[in-house]
Amino acid sequence: MLKITNYEKGRVVHPRRRRLYATAHRISGIAAVDVWVLAVIDDGPLGVDTARAMLGASATADRRTIEDQRRSVVARAALTQLVALRTGVDPARVRVTSDERGRPLLSGSALHVSIAHSGDFVACAVSTRPVGVDIERSDRSEADDALAKRVCTLAERQALERLLPSSRTGALIRLWTRKEAVVKALGVGGALPFEQLDVSHSAPRIAGARARGLWVRDLRGAPDGYSVALATAGRWQCVRARLVEAGKASATA
Ligand SMILES: CC(C)(COP(=O)(O)OP(=O)(O)OC[C@H]1O[C@@H](n2cnc3c(N)ncnc32)[C@H](O)[C@@H]1OP(=O)(O)O)[C@@H](O)C(=O)NCCC(=O)NCCS
Repeated sequence: MLKITNYEKGRVVHPRRRRLYATAHRISGIAAVDVWVLAVIDDGPLGVDTARAMLGASATADRRTIEDQRRSVVARAALTQLVALRTGVDPARVRVTSDERGRPLLSGSALHVSIAHSGDFVACAVSTRPVGVDIERSDRSEADDALAKRVCTLAERQALERLLPSSRTGALIRLWTRKEAVVKALGVGGALPFEQLDVSHSAPRIAGARARGLWVRDLRGAPDGYSVALATAGRWQCVRARLVEAGKASATA
């Protein structure tokens, strides 16, 4: 169980700890994925107020609703801090941009990153190889048979039909979350029809063919009422995932 030792007053990661973490990472050479799942709250070093002070209100002014703006600014600020922790650089020098399809990119770095938001939570991920993370609320009313017909492969639908009706909504949301994580790792966004993407196994397939060496998994210990999925390029990467809820942190997978 990870402890919240690196969250200090006014800053998320102490500079000395950041250098140590980055150095340990370089020396070990482990192919690792770092994931943070965070509650969107006002206060604290990863809260909305600090995130706005760090990035400026204009960074997310294009978001449709106030809730979208809050999630978005927290996700960007958390990703900035996670990259800083991973690389040892000052967070002020981390620049997150997007490509023409909306995929987040790091300026001047070969690291891959991913972002997701849903309800009261956001998630971000950093890896040396392509990565996709998604988080979804499990109680979405639109997760019914009609949605399953629209977004699932035949094999996924058959697997859903074998479940008790009471378990189908949760299972469909988990499939959806996996699909979103995979399309983010591929960088294709909404361009890939979900009904061609099979994520019923950890090795996703697109129209029957393996999806560019990607692997997908559900992260255990997701916040109550949410599903979190992670897609990685390569199966044997070490995943260091943390759940940060209202200022506390613990291991999620
Ligand atoms: C955009 C998309 C990647 C996720 O959208 P979403 O679930 O609405 O939103 P999420 O909160 O999970 O993720 C949003 C983040 O995805 C990232 N993203 C957007 N486009 C991306 C792309 N092409 N590749 C990788 N990541 C992308 C961005 O970082 C974005 O956050 P930001 O704008 O704050 O930077 C995409 O999967 C999508 O449009 N999904 C809908 C697919 C769909 O409906 N398919 C058809 C069903 S029949």
